[in-house]
This record gives sequence, structure tokens and C-alpha cells, in this order.
Amino acid sequence: MSLPGAPHVAYRGADLFIDDVRLSDLAHRYGTPLYVYSRTAMLDALSAYQRALSGRDHLVCYAMKANSNLAVLQTFAAAGCGFDIVSAGELERVLAAGGDPAKVVFSGVGKTRAEMAMALDAGVLCFNVESEAELEVLSTVAVAAGRTAKVSLRVNPDVDAGTHPYISTGLKGNKFGVAHDRALATYRRAAALPGLEVEGIDCHIGSQITDSGPYLDALDRVLDLVEAVEAAGLSIRHIDLGGGLGITYTDERPPAADALIAALLARIDARGHGHRKVLFEPGRSLVGNAGVLLAEVLYLKPGEAKNFCIVDAAMNDLMRPAMYEAYMGIVACTRRDAVPQTMDVVGPVCESGDWLGRDRSLAVRPGDVVAVLSAGAYGMSMASNYNSRGRAAEVMVSGHEAWLVRDRETPAELFRGEHLLPAR
Ligand code: LLP
Repeated sequence: MSLPGAPHVAYRGADLFIDDVRLSDLAHRYGTPLYVYSRTAMLDALSAYQRALSGRDHLVCYAMKANSNLAVLQTFAAAGCGFDIVSAGELERVLAAGGDPAKVVFSGVGKTRAEMAMALDAGVLCFNVESEAELEVLSTVAVAAGRTAKVSLRVNPDVDAGTHPYISTGLKGNKFGVAHDRALATYRRAAALPGLEVEGIDCHIGSQITDSGPYLDALDRVLDLVEAVEAAGLSIRHIDLGGGLGITYTDERPPAADALIAALLARIDARGHGHRKVLFEPGRSLVGNAGVLLAEVLYLKPGEAKNFCIVDAAMNDLMRPAMYEAYMGIVACTRRDAVPQTMDVVGPVCESGDWLGRDRSLAVRPGDVVAVLSAGAYGMSMASNYNSRGRAAEVMVSGHEAWLVRDRETPAELFRGEHLLPAR
């Protein structure tokens, strides 16, 4: 029996497996907290995008902020993916994993001059420019480096993605993108500035979007601009529709990636733009359902108002519940024949916000391993060292095989780089 949204995570008898590997075995071999990813699940998710885009000039740029482990990047690079990056650190990771810088788009509202120079030097495909001020700075950096920066303007289409306010990015009140009514003037400025070449247009309206309506609305707004910009004599080579497609955490029913893309391509064709290269920047939908976070039950703490199940993973390992009140499924890695109890699953961190799940029905005992589901996206990549907790280890599974792809962080690594004051 597989679990919501995650066909690669399933019970066989009493035991929970990812691919053909028993999760409790991994917990015992590598310790907990432990992130585990299915390589097959990632590649299956990617192939839905690639299938829908085959026969078109296209590029899928994995938004690596969702999960930037080198083995994940290596997997996607080998499958032909480009990358959507937001920092020099992410660019370094792409290069370390063998990714092709010519398939990298550089997003983000606050690129520094040093980051721009590094990306120009590496030869990225384009800069997704988010403001007029950034455009001016990019021009001076490119001229100083004797290079041409290809630019795509990230336009803010003012469309409500219908998602959590913290992960909604395409509304007027958001910090992202160039306002729709400033876009044409900004393209003219880009064309006039030295060291810049107009390449494309992009938008990204939010994350965990479960309906294709907002995508189609944003696309229409983007195509309106493409037409206006080209009428002004500038040419736009590619249309980048960003990422944002949601996944199933519990009962969400997002469109399948191939169905969404088919609908978008049909609209692009209907409006006469079928010859253009199309880009997507999916993050969550490529990795979210491919991963789980394993934790060991430390204590059960029954109480008058609440029962608590205290596990060894915490908000520093998985921030989504604390930060967005996000629901993530939690199940036992070995099912017990016992009456489930309702409890809050919480971590050891000294904050009341340190919870992973509230009012969950679980039959577990201390020493059991639980899996937090759909934790492949924005899990490890958002982990912190709060409470001086080393970050979890990560394992990649494919079929029967499992590889440790990141060591557990040690206490000594946590304060490497800190300095005591000189002794008097
Ligand atoms: N492109 C741009 C410019 C983005 O800002 C993002 C995500 C993506 C692509 C990828 O979006 P995705 O396909 O993953 O939805 N930490 C939050 C999500 C933040 C998303 C930020 N931007 C969470 O855990 O829900």
C-alpha cells in the first residue's frame, strides 16, 4: 500500500519501504534523524515534465533550493536538466555536481556584484532580473568583466496563486519581479544598456499551487507583454514559466505535471507563440514526494490536554510545520498491532513551535522509527543548526541500493570557524 502522493514509499506487510529498501533498516544503519530519497521517484517526476515538452525547444531548470544535495543535482544534471539558482553558493554546487552552467538561470531579488561576476564568468544561460536597479548594476558588472549578460525580466503578473502567503510571489505586494506596467520600459532600458542582451521573459507566481487556473492567467499576462515588447522592436527568445506546481501532502489534488504543461503549451500555441523556447523551474514537484525524514521515538509523554510523542528530529531538521503550519504526513516505519493514540509529534528543540505534526494518530513506542512523508523538498535545504544540533545525514536509494550522500554533521564541524578570544 503506497502513501499519499508517494508511489515509491509503500508498506510491504508491516514494514515501510522506499523503493526496495526497508526504511527501518536505513535508520539502524545510518542513525536518525535521516533524510532518505528515492532516485527513481525523482527521475519519474522529471520525466513527466520531459515527456510533455518533448518535440519542443525547452529546458527544465530544477529549482535547486528545494533540495541541493550534490547527488540530487548530479542525478538531474545527468538526465539533461538545467538549474534555477539564487546564489553563488548554489552555482558552486551545480559546478561541483557536474551541471552545465550554460543551462543555469540565475533568479533572486538581491544578487550581489560578486555573484553576478561569478555567474558571468561561469557562463550562465541568463539572469532573471527582478528590478530596474539590478539591471543597471548588472550592466556595469558585465562591462567591467568584458562580457555580455543575457537577461530575462522576471515580471510580476499580479496573479493570485491561491497558496500560503509566505510562498505566494506573483502579487503586487510581493517583493518579486518587475511590475507588469513597468516591464516594457524596463525592456527598453535593458536593450539600451551596454553589456546586456535581452534573452527572455519569466514569471513565478508562487509555490505549492494546486490549480492550473493561476498558471494560465499568468501565462496570458506574460504573452501580452511578449507581444508588446516585440511590437517595440525587441525580440524575446524564451518564455520561462517558473516553478510552483504543488504536490500531495495529504489530500491535495494538483494537476499532473504533464497535464499542466500540455494546457500551457496549448495556450502558447493558440496565441501564436509555439516557436519559442519554453523553460520551467520546478522544485518541489521534482523532489518533494521522493523523500522522507526518519526519526526515532524518544519518549511518549501523555498529558491532560495533549499527548506528546517526542522524536529526535526537530524544527531545525524540518522547518515547514513551524514556519508555514504545513501538514506533513507521519507514519510508523513498522506497523504495530496496537490501538493508535492521538498525539502531537514534537522535537527536542526548546520552542513551543517545534512540532512536526499535531493530533496525529499513531501506534508507536520509544525506539520505534517514524517517517515524515513528502520531505524531499524544502526539508534538508532549510535545515539549521539551532540548539547546536548537527544537520541530519542523507541517503539516496535506487531499487535495492542505498548510498550515504551526506554525512551527519558533527559537533566539531558546528563550531569550526569560530574563535575564542585571546587569553589574557
Ligand atoms: N523559481 C523561483 C524563482 C522560485 O522562487 C521558486 C521557489 C521556484 C522556482 C520553485 O518553486 P517550486 O516548484 O518548488 O514550488 N520553502 C517553501 C517554498 C519556497 C519556494 C520559494 N521559491 C516551502 O517549504 O513550502
